Amino acid sequence: MVAPSPHPSGALPPELPVETLPKHVAIVMDGNGRWAKARGLPRTEGHKQGEFSLFDTIEGAIEVDIPYLSAYAFSTENWTRSPEEVRFLMGFSRNVLRNRRDQLIDLGVRVVWSGRRGRLWKGVISELETAEQMSRHNSKLVLQFCVNYGGQAEIADAAAAIARDAVAGRINPDRVNEKLFAKYLYHPEVPPVDLFLRPSGEQRLSNFLLWQSSYAELVSMNLLWPDFNRLHLWQALEQYAQRHRRFGGTP
Ligand code: IPE
Ligand code: IPE
Ligand code: MG
Repeated sequence: MVAPSPHPSGALPPELPVETLPKHVAIVMDGNGRWAKARGLPRTEGHKQGEFSLFDTIEGAIEVDIPYLSAYAFSTENWTRSPEEVRFLMGFSRNVLRNRRDQLIDLGVRVVWSGRRGRLWKGVISELETAEQMSRHNSKLVLQFCVNYGGQAEIADAAAAIARDAVAGRINPDRVNEKLFAKYLYHPEVPPVDLFLRPSGEQRLSNFLLWQSSYAELVSMNLLWPDFNRLHLWQALEQYAQRHRRFGGTP
């Protein structure tokens, strides 16, 4: 295993008490198109730049010992974009997974894919599954890579699987509660989202990890994903550390 390389600025991670750190950070990697447009470039250039943001953020997460990171790469609604952009995003996801696999494995990252097979390119599915397989013994950081992912789709898929098990007599419908339901999510071993981070200034969930984010702390940051790096993740962690979570109880 190799240690993450430091941020080029030499900045060191914030010294936050371990109990103030989130276990699971979810990131909506948003703003690539706007970043490119502001530079007179095609939208695809923003996606390309976003690769560096993601890998710097992964290294920054490892430096502070965050155990779970979810990255939203392609939603079930992103198919409504132009055929050219969809085609680019499919090919790009496949290539990034292939080219970055060894680096992720060296860093001790375990990759898990959440999403629907549906219309996904076969090449993308096979790279996702290869990365999952090759990294399965790693435990430094779990990277939940969300491709063709929708929170509503995940909940509907869980409901369908529960219905199948009920019809087959494997479960009793009267026993279905939140705890049992959660076992039918794509990756039930991934804990609830603590910090839901969205760059690009938008303040919406866009169908990301709906079930898992029921009590997530939301941080919206006013910069576009291609400009994001681990320093911004660390700033968000500092904000998170100041929050008072109540989970419906009293302080
Ligand atoms: C996020 O950036 C990447 C994907 C959704 C694949 P966008 O492409 O949504 O960029 P904006 O929001 O249009 O700027
Ligand atoms: C969410 O961003 C999806 C990903 C980042 C993969 P979108 O750009 O698709 O979401 P909206 O359209 O702003 O809600
Ligand atoms: Mg967007």
